[in-house]
Amino acid sequence: MNKVLIGVLATLAVGAASVATVAATGIVAVGADTPHHPVVHDLLAFARERAIARQSAGITAPADLDNPERIRRGAGNYAAMCVDCHLAPALADSEIRRGLYPTPPNLAAGLADSGARRNAARDFWIIKHGIKASAMPAWAKGGMDDEAIWDLAAFVQTLPGLSKTAYDQLVAASDGHVHGGMEGHADHHEAPPPPKPAAAPAAGHRHDGHDHATHKH
Ligand code: HEC
Repeated sequence: MNKVLIGVLATLAVGAASVATVAATGIVAVGADTPHHPVVHDLLAFARERAIARQSAGITAPADLDNPERIRRGAGNYAAMCVDCHLAPALADSEIRRGLYPTPPNLAAGLADSGARRNAARDFWIIKHGIKASAMPAWAKGGMDDEAIWDLAAFVQTLPGLSKTAYDQLVAASDGHVHGGMEGHADHHEAPPPPKPAAAPAAGHRHDGHDHATHKH
């Protein structure tokens, strides 16, 4: 073995031992209320985007992604499964979203470089596979088939342009929470959820069993 190789291996071993030592001390900030160091944050974001770009490269969106039927079906599933984390028109924030890290992107707000269209293949991949160690679930593992995932990708493209009224109408016109891929769950169907209030309910007693002092906003 030449000296360079021995040097490289020794450096790697010292590096791995240092990481293990830091982990063993228990000082790593694992709480969701402590953000990553900016360097760690940027490194994770870089790795995430590289991985998604590579692994979604072979995915082509169906030609009928703009079909209103897809968008209608996607609306019902979005309102049932996504809205608490990803919000809706006129829904400023939610209790679960405030506590999550990373914060789920507000999919009703559109892209930062507004006017740009979302990358449907990227959205499909993320909805299907989820994102490890974030709260984003792998919906295919949960039991959703590809067609229902494309319906959601279609809906998510449309969402930033919707008013609250248009959103509520689409959800009401949808079939609710219903999608293929749930073997043994032929009756996996729930009526559309009622519209969310635009603002969080006022502090005080509620009658849905969910009752605790609200936070200052
Ligand atoms: C429990 C919270 C939670 C739920 C429920 C959830 N997501 Fe997410 N989602 C996240 C988080 C957190 C991220 C960001 C992950 C990251 O940045 O690493 C994310 C990311 C995404 C992204 C990528 C957004 C972007 O611009 O980078 C899409 C698209 C998405 N989710 C769609 C959905 C859809 C559709 C549903 C419902 C079927 C859903 N999510 C349900 C938490 C959630």
